[in-house]
Amino acid sequence: MIRATRTALVAATATALAVSALVLPSASAATGSSGSSTGTPADSAAARAKGPAASTLGELGRRAGLRIGTAVDMSALTADAPYREKAATEFSSVTPENVMKWESVEAVRGTYTWGPADDLVDFAQDNHQLVRGHTLVWHSQLPGWITSGSFTPDELRDILHRHITDEVKHFKGRIWQWDVVNEAFNDDGTLRDSIWLRNLGPGYIADAFRWAHEADPKAELYINDYNIEGVNPKSTALLALVTDLKKQHVPIDGVGVQGHLAVQYPAPHDIADNLARFDALGLDTAITEADVRMVMPADATKTEAQAEGYSVLLQGCLLTEHCTDFTVWGFTDKYSWVPNTFSGQGAANLLTEDYRPKQAYTALRQDLVLAGRR
Ligand code: XIL
Repeated sequence: MIRATRTALVAATATALAVSALVLPSASAATGSSGSSTGTPADSAAARAKGPAASTLGELGRRAGLRIGTAVDMSALTADAPYREKAATEFSSVTPENVMKWESVEAVRGTYTWGPADDLVDFAQDNHQLVRGHTLVWHSQLPGWITSGSFTPDELRDILHRHITDEVKHFKGRIWQWDVVNEAFNDDGTLRDSIWLRNLGPGYIADAFRWAHEADPKAELYINDYNIEGVNPKSTALLALVTDLKKQHVPIDGVGVQGHLAVQYPAPHDIADNLARFDALGLDTAITEADVRMVMPADATKTEAQAEGYSVLLQGCLLTEHCTDFTVWGFTDKYSWVPNTFSGQGAANLLTEDYRPKQAYTALRQDLVLAGRR
């Protein structure tokens, strides 16, 4: 199955157009006129001379016309030198795993904590990486003063407006893509019952995009969700919503597909068909949080299935003209949200706990090389 898909991939990408210059400011790296993620034109030329085997995922992604990103755990970035080294060199974009979430930036009402998020944005700048901002409107990881406060709908609307405006303005000009609204849907395609839907009604989604756009008109604005990799009731409901938003001229640029998979469930082999529906609407797409977990302990069969899961996600992106980014939700099993969230599961990342590459890492490299230039 995978081999057949790879053949199709090479054929399809041969005719695919390059993504826009805005999306790929470093596309010129391919011609050696700009630095690679390691910095200088000389580095980039050296990597080319050594061929794909010597390149990082980020460099291979550039040749294939997309960014390869990772979520970053700021405690690990500070404390663990090998982690920092990999985060700096292997990827061409980064997403804060937690430090831009509402509970992190405004735990106390009116008192902002930007330090850790600023540190990540500086780190990205130092390493020629773009930043995906994550996330502005979500039902989860809200500060206690909101979840246990008693506010009228008008007050909550003002609070949300202010949050979006203040956060987006704080990072203005430094964020490539914002996940403006996160996980707004249930799996059956209805809107999730959240504090926002209950108090503001479904219009909170359009408003959030309008407010974010006002605060930073150049940032690309995404709606992001899980279980929307394939064609299913949830992704179809999201398609209906974004179709409607586009009709109303709401400033939305893209759809983020989280890509949290598990080897015990079928991989979403129809992902390219699904992404094509959003592409046809004129929206960009991105895989924003890829990981492929397994019931522990890991073994050779599960590890091979994991490589296929990652590969299916990346190939879906490569086959989609305006898929801009493939981000993994962490890159080493040393730091992963999976064991804390899915009891008995783990080993979801590209590298082992001691930073050895797993089959999944090799599979992604192979897909990027085979895709050629988009
Ligand atoms: C997770 C983080 O990885 C954890 O560290 C945190 O405790 C909970 O959130 N979908 C998302 C991410 O959009 O923000 C979530 O991140 C994982 C699921």
